[in-house]
Parts: sequence; structure tokens; C-alpha cells
Amino acid sequence: MSMVEMIHKKRDGSALSQTEIQHFIAGYMVGEIPDYQVSALLMAIYFSGMNREETVTLTEALVASGETLDLSMLAGIVADKHSTGGVGDKISLVLLPLVAAAGVTIAKMSGRGLGHTGGTIDKLSCIPGFRTDLTRTEFLAQVRDVGIAITGQTPQMTPADGLLYALRDVTATVDSIPLIASSIMSKKIASGAQNIVLDVKVGSGAFMRDLASARELAQMMTSIGAALGRKTVALLSAMEQPLGFAIGNHVEVIEAIETLQGYGPADVKALSLALGAELLVNSKLAPSLAQAEEILSALLNDGSALAMFRRFVAAQGGDTTAVDTPAKLGTPRNRGELRAVAGGFLCELDALKVGQAAVLLGAGREQKGAEIDLLAGIILHKKIGDFVAAGELLAEIFCNSDEKLALATTQLSSAYGYSEQQPPTSPLILERIEAENI
Ligand code: URA
Repeated sequence: MSMVEMIHKKRDGSALSQTEIQHFIAGYMVGEIPDYQVSALLMAIYFSGMNREETVTLTEALVASGETLDLSMLAGIVADKHSTGGVGDKISLVLLPLVAAAGVTIAKMSGRGLGHTGGTIDKLSCIPGFRTDLTRTEFLAQVRDVGIAITGQTPQMTPADGLLYALRDVTATVDSIPLIASSIMSKKIASGAQNIVLDVKVGSGAFMRDLASARELAQMMTSIGAALGRKTVALLSAMEQPLGFAIGNHVEVIEAIETLQGYGPADVKALSLALGAELLVNSKLAPSLAQAEEILSALLNDGSALAMFRRFVAAQGGDTTAVDTPAKLGTPRNRGELRAVAGGFLCELDALKVGQAAVLLGAGREQKGAEIDLLAGIILHKKIGDFVAAGELLAEIFCNSDEKLALATTQLSSAYGYSEQQPPTSPLILERIEAENI
């Protein structure tokens, strides 16, 4: 089969065979298929889509392009969590030590942030001494001894995904559901966990802006997981406004610690409990989701989750005294304020615009590999539904440059909308999607 025939076939809406998909990935990896033909095929996939079988095959081919992690020597069911990315999303920092305190074994490989969405590895890098580059042996030993390890993704895993993503990024083919689903799931499958919970964000600050596309993505990802023998559940969660009050690496670590101390924002706690309950039930550590949430709440309240976070930070070389003394995480040079120009109920706090303001501050990177300012960030003082009087403080803004502060403040102010009536409260968790039993 030639690449031209494959492009033709997909352009005209037909499904590609298993052999064709494997040939395309293997040929691209060894440099036999040029970028221009892969770009054309990606665009054909963007318009014609891929069915479930094609998407599963693509995922397997991406996994087969590199190293995989075998976790079978570890006792119990190893779990992992993935978020499709949002603004203020520090859930992994709360959820993973919390479920580890309940006995769930966590082996997570994570990425750095890109654009307006943050990344767990950047956040963990705020903790002095914390290592995000564990070797395979160190990673496995820590999962075995501590019950939780989180490290950066290695380029040796799913290298074909890295190549394809770079091409998608410059050919306007990132936002294709089969391409996103196979890209995310290939990394989850290669890193070995059996029990996967997915947080699929929906709204202005998310990849998926509407419920229907988020549902389609979640259905595709959970069915890939099931087809490849992994227990996979997805929750669809709201990302119209940022999660919690803190946006930016340093401030999000502090907010995550506060949540582990039992007094974090209600939405951060609720989502951590809901995702955590899925992991507990699928690890056979709780008989029902309701009982799992009770177990997890107790572990937050009695300090066990925070103690597990300390053990995890210590195991990866981090300064555990920073957990109790946030000043040890550093102090940004500039502090600005955004105050309300008019009064009313806050009815809009556009997550995308807030995320873009954080990028302008230097908290997020516009290009892969770019340096970021870990101390830059925003603390919201009001969220949707709150009443705001004219002149009241809406947000504090932190960074290390006067110029960035001015630009970001203007951008942040465009995120707010007011109404005379209090807007109805909207749910945080919109749907739960589980693949067919495996
Ligand atoms: N995240 C990924 O890892 N891959 C995509 O294609 C999109 C988001």
C-alpha cells in the first residue's frame, strides 16, 4: 500500500486497515514517509475521523514506537490519573497522595504545561530539591516502597506521539478527537497502570469546549483503555471558570497543600474526592463510590493525606519543610491587584482568558521547552455567583516584571462579566463515562 493511496482512502472517508496504520507510524518513525504526506493524512483524519478500531490500532502503534513500563512486579493494582488540561487544575497534587494514603498504588508519568493549561511536573518543580527525572529503577522502587511516584515522561516512551504532535501543532490538526484520544491513551498505556481515571474538562478553558465533544472524547478514551485491557473511567468536569482560586505553579502548590490540610476550595476538594473514589473502587479498596468518598474524606480530615504528601516529597528529594512553610517555595517580586470597576453578581470568569493572563505573566509556556516563571500567578478573590461591590478586590497578580504585570492585568480584566441577578449554580461534575466491562 502506498502512502498516497492511504491519504486518498482516508480523504474519501474510508477506514484504514490495521496494517496501513502500523505501516504509517513505523514508516514515519524511520524517516521513510515525509512530513508532507503525514500532514496530508493527519488533515484527512481531521475531516473524516477514525472509528474505534482504527483509533485503538493507532494507539497501539504509538505505544509500540518506544519503551513501555512493566509494572507487573508491583503488588496490587497500579493506578494513574490524567486530566485533559485546564486552568488552576492542581487536582493531581491533592488526589494522588490522598488515594495513596488509602492504599492505592500510584505510578504516574506526567508532562509539563503548554499554553494556558498547567502541568503537574512544573508545579512539583516549585518544591526545592524535588526531582522530576527519576530513573526507571528509582521510579519503580519508590512506587514499591512509598506507594506513590510521579516523574516526567521520558522521550523514549511513545516517541511517535512526540513526532506526530509536533506536526499536528503546525498543521492545525491538534483538535481531532481520535488523534487526541490515541495520543493521551498511548502515554497512559505505555506507562503501565491497570486502573486509569480520566478527568475530561469541558468549557472555555478546556480542549473540549462543549459537552458533546467532551463526551465523544471520553467515550473514545475509555473504550481504547478497555480494548487494551485497562480499567478506565472518565468524569466530565466543568472548566468554564478556573478550578479553585489559584492559577500558576507556586500558588497552586500552596492551594493544593491547603486542600490536603483540610481547608482548600470546595471545588478542588469535591473533584479530588470524586476522581479518587473511582480509583479506590477500581483498586478494590472500597465497595462503592459513596463509601470510597467517605474513606477519602476521613483521610483528608485526619492528616493522613498530608502525611503521604510529605513522604512522597521526601522520597523524591524535596524539602518537606516547604510543605509547612510556603515562604520556602519563594516570593514573587511584584504584586498587583485587579479591582471591580462596577458592582453586581459575577456571572462570567472566562477560564481561557484567565489562563492567557497567567501565560502573559510568565506562568505558562507558549512553546514547548520554553522557560517559565514558577512564582508568577493569580489568586482569585471572587468566583462566579459571588456579589462584587465596585472597587472590591477581584484578584491578586504575582510576577517578576512590571511590564508583564500591566499586560496580564488588562487581559485578566477581560475575563469578568456581571449581571444584576445571581446566576444559577452549575454542576462541577457533568457526567461519568465508563467503558464496557473488561
Ligand atoms: N494532550 C496530549 O497528550 N495529546 C493531544 O493530542 C492533546 C492533548
